[in-house]
Amino acid sequence: MERLERIHPNRQVMAFTFMLVLVQVCSKKITQYSILEETESGSFVAHLAKDLDLRPGDLTARSARVVCDDYKQRLVLDPETGDLLLREKLDREELCASLEPCVLHFQVSLEKPVQFLQGELLIQDINDHSPEFPDTEMLLKIPENSQPGSRFPLKLAQDLDVGSNGLQHYTVNSNSHFHVVTRNNSGGKKYPELVQDRALDREEQAELSLTLTALDGGDPPRSGTAMVRILILDINDNAPEFVNTPYEVQVLESSPPDSPVLTVLAQDADAGIFGRVSYGLFQASDEIQQTFSINEVTGEIRLRKGLDFEKVKSYHVEIEATDGGGLSGKGAVLIEVVDVNDNAPELTISSLTSSVPENAPETIISIFRVGDRDSGENGKVVCSIPETLPFILKSTFKNFYSLVTESPLDRETRAEYNITITVTDLGTPRLTTQHTITVQVSDVNDNAPAFTETSYTLFVQENNSPALHIGTISATDSDSGSNARITYSLLPTHDPQLALSSLISINADNGQLFALRALDYETLQIFEFHVGATDQGSPALSSQALVHVLVLDANDNAPFVLYPLQNASAPCTELLPRVAEPGYLVTKVVAVDRDSGQNSWLSFQLLKATEPGLFNVWAHNGEVRTARLLSERDAPKHRLLLLVKDNGDPQRSASVTLHVLVVDGFSQSYLPLPDVARDPAQEEEDELTLYLVIALASVSSLFLLSVLLFVGVRLYRRARETSLAGCSVPDGHFPGHLVDVNGEGTLSQNYQYEVYLRGGSGTGEFNFLKPMIPNLLLQESGKEIKESPHCRNSFVFS
Ligand SMILES: *[C@@H]1O[C@H](CO)[C@@H](O)[C@H](O)[C@H]1NC(C)=O
Ligand SMILES: *[C@@H]1O[C@H](CO)[C@@H](O)[C@H](O)[C@H]1NC(C)=O
Ligand SMILES: *[C@@H]1O[C@H](CO)[C@@H](O)[C@H](O)[C@H]1NC(C)=O
Repeated sequence: MERLERIHPNRQVMAFTFMLVLVQVCSKKITQYSILEETESGSFVAHLAKDLDLRPGDLTARSARVVCDDYKQRLVLDPETGDLLLREKLDREELCASLEPCVLHFQVSLEKPVQFLQGELLIQDINDHSPEFPDTEMLLKIPENSQPGSRFPLKLAQDLDVGSNGLQHYTVNSNSHFHVVTRNNSGGKKYPELVQDRALDREEQAELSLTLTALDGGDPPRSGTAMVRILILDINDNAPEFVNTPYEVQVLESSPPDSPVLTVLAQDADAGIFGRVSYGLFQASDEIQQTFSINEVTGEIRLRKGLDFEKVKSYHVEIEATDGGGLSGKGAVLIEVVDVNDNAPELTISSLTSSVPENAPETIISIFRVGDRDSGENGKVVCSIPETLPFILKSTFKNFYSLVTESPLDRETRAEYNITITVTDLGTPRLTTQHTITVQVSDVNDNAPAFTETSYTLFVQENNSPALHIGTISATDSDSGSNARITYSLLPTHDPQLALSSLISINADNGQLFALRALDYETLQIFEFHVGATDQGSPALSSQALVHVLVLDANDNAPFVLYPLQNASAPCTELLPRVAEPGYLVTKVVAVDRDSGQNSWLSFQLLKATEPGLFNVWAHNGEVRTARLLSERDAPKHRLLLLVKDNGDPQRSASVTLHVLVVDGFSQSYLPLPDVARDPAQEEEDELTLYLVIALASVSSLFLLSVLLFVGVRLYRRARETSLAGCSVPDGHFPGHLVDVNGEGTLSQNYQYEVYLRGGSGTGEFNFLKPMIPNLLLQESGKEIKESPHCRNSFVFS
């Protein structure tokens, strides 16, 4: 082609020359001429006359005519010149179309003679046509999965010109996907063929427009273009894709069924049915299928039923989107269930001790577990019990708590506790659960019986009847049951003298005390013993109390006269000096009463006397004194009858007979002395005795004073005591005319003192201790006077 183009400028010249040669060789037969197509009409074609060796006028003369094969008058003869001229423009394409070479045959007919000449006119092509596509636009549909290298033949362009002026090749505007190659078809026509350079993607570019250019080989070349619209056909090469997968969504567990959860969206880049997506659950478990539904068209996920965070906290839902071509994409939705405080806390008792012994150290009452099926703050629980109770909660591990006693319990203070355990969660609103545990405190024998009093004082009138109920002691025990059942008993006494078991008995059940036999105040005025109260616990506890029994006096003893002795074989005789002044103390009657109190308050009374006016008896102390001076006429012997009465009720009395002998010349020197001859040593002893007397006298008087004081105080007290004990002493006033011998037969202390000192021997160094008793020698009677063992203070006439 290139070579052709290079020689092209000389082509017409050469062709013309060639023709001339040819005409000369075959001049007689065929004359060949050549002319370019589209040459203007009238243009010179050939010197025909000359070529025929005719003169120009011959042609006219011989009626030369030119006839073309197709009987069209395309050529004319110029009669004058004999030149062959073009009668009209010749279009090679019209004459020969694609036939090459394009030769117009013609005859020249001559007459005179008839002569026919054959001629040929070669019509040479000029590039007067451009390649032309049948359509300005071609539509080419290519599936997008077409592979690089694929070829797509296109409609060819036509160029009416031939040879080098004909269509040579095709080009396409530069683009990324295709190039074009020029190919020969079976008919030798050149056609364009698109070659795919790169993979296509409809989704990236659905349509391409290329400009296809057909070029011929003319100079200058002519071209024709056509648009090639390439539609890239969709194939289902895109699966649906979920836009935001994995989705995450939170749903309140309180959401009702049919609540919308989320709408998912899958996109499919394909078009049409390949891009139409339907939604579904993928590989869903029964649980998920029962819980969620998905709208096939809209992708909206809804609840089928209520949720329960406590059962399932989240769902992993696989979803699927399928397009019309069957491709599918997968996605996932993570549905988190958001807890709502819809569960009250729970409390589960694991172990429970309903009874706790009192005094037990820290004891576990109950172990329990608390929990809340909610989570987060909704599931945090706080556990409490009332602070006032002696129990504490201890957190053991995790959610386990133990309820323990804070300190030993005391059943006697409180025997039953209701412990309310409150469990509250921290959610909003707060939910609370309460559980009440009842704990019984069981009794332990920790309380000894307690007597109602620490000591009891019981009073018993003496001479009681046997088996007399004298009192009841009682004790209580704050324990319960057998720990509180009390048995009373008498405890052994420490006093060996006291035969308690023969005196007192006790009712073991009710603590009643009985005097077993009659008591005698004079033998036993007071005694004490311990009683015990023992419960029946194990070990048993006991306590004791002191019981004083006071025996109350009854006036069961008559006064007893100590002096003068009444049962002596010989009566005692008191000596009275005739010179005695009025008020002279003749003697003193000494009596005792074994009773006490006013039963022993004695009074003396002169019942009868031989000389009534001579003697006075002092009622309260039994002193017998002279009432007046004695005269010569008074008889020497007197007999007095005295009555000693006590103050009891009934009153008891005793009578005393006194013998008084009036003596003359009564002096100390007449006293009989055991040893008549007194030696100097005896003198000294007398002096010593004198001092002793003084000393003793002063001691005695001091003693007497204190005794009086003591008696006074004692009397006052006794008066009060007896009045308290129900013994009637009028006004607590001690009658002045009585003498108190104080139960023990106490004489006025000086007399008693004397009796004891003198006791036993008839003679002694303490003779002087009877100062007030005249110790005289009876001179007149001449009778031997000797000391009688029964008449200590006086003398017995024998
Ligand atoms: C097409 O034909 C031309 C001549 O007619 C020839 O030169 C060329 O090589 C051919 N091309 C192909 C691809 O056959
Ligand atoms: C404990 O609760 C029970 C039953 O409600 C009741 O009978 C009892 O009296 C309560 N005890 C105390 C100490 O509150
Ligand atoms: C007189 O009575 C006393 C006391 O009862 C007694 O001790 C004494 O022996 C009795 N004397 C005579 C002689 O009966």
